[in-house]
Amino acid sequence: MVNTLPKENGFEPKGKDKALNFRLNEGLESLMTLYQSIYQQHPKAEETFEKLIRTLIKFDQERAPEFKAQDQSKKSDWFLSNELVGMSLYVDRFCGNLKKLPSKLPYLCELGVNFLHLMPLFESPAGESDGGYAVSDFQKIDSKFGNLSDLKKLRKAMQDQEMHLMLDIVLNHTSHHHEWAQKAKAGDTYYQDFYYMYDNRWIPNEFDTSMPEIFPETSPGNFTYVSECDKWVMTVFHQYQWDLNFTNPAVFVAMLENILFYANLGVDLLRIDAPAFIWKQNGTSSQNLPQAHQLLRLIKQCVKVSAPGMALLGEAIVAPKEIIKYFGSEDYLAKECDFAYNATQMALQWDMLATGDTRVMLAAQHDILQKPIGTSWITYTRSHDDIGLGYEDEKIAQVGRDPYLHRQFLKDYYSGSYPGSPAKGALFSSNPKTGDARISGSLASLCGLEKAIEDADHLEIDKSIQKILLMQAHSFFLGGMPMLYYGDELGYTNDYSYQNDPGKSYDNRWMHRPIIDWKKNAKGKNENTVEGKIFAGTRKLIQIRKQLPVFGDQKNLTWLAPHNIHVAGFVRSYGSQKVYCIFNFGSETAFLTWYAFRELCKSPDELQDHWTGEKFTVGQDNEYLIIPPYGFYILD
Ligand code: GLC
Repeated sequence: MVNTLPKENGFEPKGKDKALNFRLNEGLESLMTLYQSIYQQHPKAEETFEKLIRTLIKFDQERAPEFKAQDQSKKSDWFLSNELVGMSLYVDRFCGNLKKLPSKLPYLCELGVNFLHLMPLFESPAGESDGGYAVSDFQKIDSKFGNLSDLKKLRKAMQDQEMHLMLDIVLNHTSHHHEWAQKAKAGDTYYQDFYYMYDNRWIPNEFDTSMPEIFPETSPGNFTYVSECDKWVMTVFHQYQWDLNFTNPAVFVAMLENILFYANLGVDLLRIDAPAFIWKQNGTSSQNLPQAHQLLRLIKQCVKVSAPGMALLGEAIVAPKEIIKYFGSEDYLAKECDFAYNATQMALQWDMLATGDTRVMLAAQHDILQKPIGTSWITYTRSHDDIGLGYEDEKIAQVGRDPYLHRQFLKDYYSGSYPGSPAKGALFSSNPKTGDARISGSLASLCGLEKAIEDADHLEIDKSIQKILLMQAHSFFLGGMPMLYYGDELGYTNDYSYQNDPGKSYDNRWMHRPIIDWKKNAKGKNENTVEGKIFAGTRKLIQIRKQLPVFGDQKNLTWLAPHNIHVAGFVRSYGSQKVYCIFNFGSETAFLTWYAFRELCKSPDELQDHWTGEKFTVGQDNEYLIIPPYGFYILD
């Protein structure tokens, strides 16, 4: 039982670090309560707690003065600002390596991006890397990217341009090449306890009956036989990704060291990969369990002590009601992850684009709007992952559609098999047992650009560009930090070359992980090209967002009533400012009664669109705002 104060245990930080003392004392009760709630029964609970506190002190003492200064100067809600715009990219596929990235910063700044998510950089075995999410050394940069000194130089260059940095901590698992896994394979029982390892299939069989499969096509089941030690190890994702056993407090402290190591590299936002999976319990789905939330809260408290300027993003791509819990609940409301991905809205945007109907999206808003004040979404249209249609059947049924047929339509539409569909994507992780499947494909290909170019159909090319900008606009103004996905600012279509690489061919998510061709990117400067039109449009959307503080995430969004089912509309308000954002997801011209603008609040007599510059006189209830197919307005 952990019940002693660190001071009594001789933990008082050396020297006169008053700030650390203050934070430790302030956070100690929560630290102890959370730790005990998870580990109090563990035989090594007390000594490991002491190690945890020593770890917090050590990393605080090692934290560079410049980052400590930033911890002080950052406002607690720095990340809610309308001025932040992110991009997620693979360093090697974007520009080769870390050394070359500083020379590409001007390109990103020109676009308006000031926040970078660098996809996993730490050592990960080629051919068994899951895009870097199978880490064999959490503190060594993979040689294909460069080394730590290159990362530090890049960080400095970014800081000079006032850019923020986001990195991943792959918390749920390690590569089977990680030192811990190697030792476990060799029979070291201390490290075997770092994983879920069993002598036979009895317990694994029990787990398997209630745990869903994540990659059913390529990695069925949740356990893998390890011939070296004649044991079965839990591998929820790929067979080469061994799940860490967080019931062992030594695992928690070992991973905390990696988290604080990243904090001390100057990370502003830490993306916690796959947090829904970090606690396993036989007889459950082993996802979203209460202990997983307790662990995240404990991480948050630890970070508040040793690196208070670093925010946390929980990458929980789960059911809408579950996602919201990653912001914390009850006593820990807004005290867990600062950010989560608005994965529900992302998927619903694709739903609206295919069906031209906004009603399922609106039905899901009740849950999404529960996000606590002071926390924020990452809003996005595409990422390196697939699109999962994770919203509930009930929401689909609510608008009179058959959930099975509706999902089938979406899968057919985006994989291009639906007659007349302009989209070119593919189904990912189809599970014949459940009928589930997710969708791969780039923003541009799913919006029809790839097919339109193949058909040399100029009208369709223009339509697909309009759809791309509609999707981006909807996610940029919704509330939260927009996270662009590299290549989408120029309309990169699918890249099928992964099919020839045995380390990638089993995973069609690689079709939307482009290798950047800087000659193509240069076309972004010419507005007569497809690339130039998309780049200029994206840039303009970013500029509009940055100009208007109303787009900061102050929980200030209200949906307009759906007077026209093809049109999604919301109003963002801040002080006396109100901005109406109106999007036509239909393929026909849409008419929206001016009453929609008056229904919620007094609307001005005249509205001006930030996107086109057009001015509109607000008419009578029986008069309409006319919105072109896939058009949108940002009006105030
Ligand atoms: C996250 C990553 C995904 C990866 C998985 C396993 O969901 O985004 O790319 O496959 O975790 O680490």
